[in-house]
Amino acid sequence: MRLTDDERSMLDGEQGEAVQAAMDLLVRYGEVLGAERLVDTDNVCGANIFGQRQMMLCGAADPDAVFSEFSLDSPKPVEITPMKAQSYQLIGPMDTQHWQVQGLSQEAHDAIESSESYSARHGIHLMNTCTPYQVGNVPVKGEHCAWMESSAVVYVNSVLGARTNVEGRESTAAAMLTGKIPYWGYHLDSNRFGSHLVEVAEPVSSSLDWGLLGYYVGELVQEGVPVLDGIAEVPNLVKLKHFGAAAASSGGVEMYHIPGTTVEARTVDEAFGPRRPVQTLRYGARERRQTYEQLNHTARDSDVDLVMIGCPHATLSQIRDVCRLVQGRKVHPDSALWVFTPRAIRQVAEQNGYAQILRDAGALLMSDTCPAIGQFLPKGTRVIATDSAKQVHYLPAIMKVQGWFGTTEECVNSALTGTWQGSL
Ligand code: F3S
Repeated sequence: MRLTDDERSMLDGEQGEAVQAAMDLLVRYGEVLGAERLVDTDNVCGANIFGQRQMMLCGAADPDAVFSEFSLDSPKPVEITPMKAQSYQLIGPMDTQHWQVQGLSQEAHDAIESSESYSARHGIHLMNTCTPYQVGNVPVKGEHCAWMESSAVVYVNSVLGARTNVEGRESTAAAMLTGKIPYWGYHLDSNRFGSHLVEVAEPVSSSLDWGLLGYYVGELVQEGVPVLDGIAEVPNLVKLKHFGAAAASSGGVEMYHIPGTTVEARTVDEAFGPRRPVQTLRYGARERRQTYEQLNHTARDSDVDLVMIGCPHATLSQIRDVCRLVQGRKVHPDSALWVFTPRAIRQVAEQNGYAQILRDAGALLMSDTCPAIGQFLPKGTRVIATDSAKQVHYLPAIMKVQGWFGTTEECVNSALTGTWQGSL
């Protein structure tokens, strides 16, 4: 890999041991990927620096040593210096307000809290969400980023035209310290053109529709770049969030085009550029129904123990919609309703009275985490319901529960009645 003089000086240790270890990792990583060079980035979103699992494994070990081993793959502990790039922490394992509801021990709470102050001391912004683009980190078209979290990557590549691959804990940590990331994959123009044409013959309107379409597309194109043709309605942020998250769950979609809506293609031809579609898919009523049944395949029992809203983390508009459904009503005593959002949005939800409406209904507004990442559910949960194709893809597999997928209204009603009554 070709290095600039500045990158070479990092690798030679002239900018400190932490930067040297980070550059060593990036060079090894880039060479495996076949990258010819690195690219500058000043927008890095990575995991909670060492999270619950690493802290527990390491006990009360020196945090720099934990960071060196788990985030930089460095055989020798190095002193971690402040991050060079603008750096942001993604979703983590704990809600700082409701950690006891999650069933976390005091020891786990303290470990996570101290990892957060370590991150803050090193200049990592504690956004604590899988949707940084909702709360102030909105990269612009062409901006080179290094982001983890597949649902966020597909959003910023496709909707905003920023450039990132789905990075990992280690590569984002190294990018934070150096302001560099390998120049490959979706950083390159040539990889951003469409690969599959999807003819959408069925109206796609609600968030549920967008989740279904995303799940269908992801499963068939896997790591391709789908181009959707036939979308009649301009989708909003919530719908695109559901679409991308679903496509990145059933497949590995990191970029798509909706000509006329997403920023890099005004027409289908422009979306494919010099490429020809490798395959044309048709999404009609039959495909929609099959996808719905596939997403509900784990569900059998109609008694719902938990309803989860906010995957990816909910917008203020979604919180308002839930509030309108629950206002003046109560969550069924045998069920629970948990809504997940970024901590910054929770603060606004408090100010607007939404959080109080949820509390009055017996629901919880949680932030910083989610059941799939934190791996927690109310004790004894057997059946969950969610309006997120991504969450119903992962949670039954991770937590061994049954999962219903439906509209937000169906999900909230199932929390209020304790019973699933959704249908397509
Ligand atoms: Fe976010 Fe958790 Fe869903 S990380 S995208 S709420 S699985």
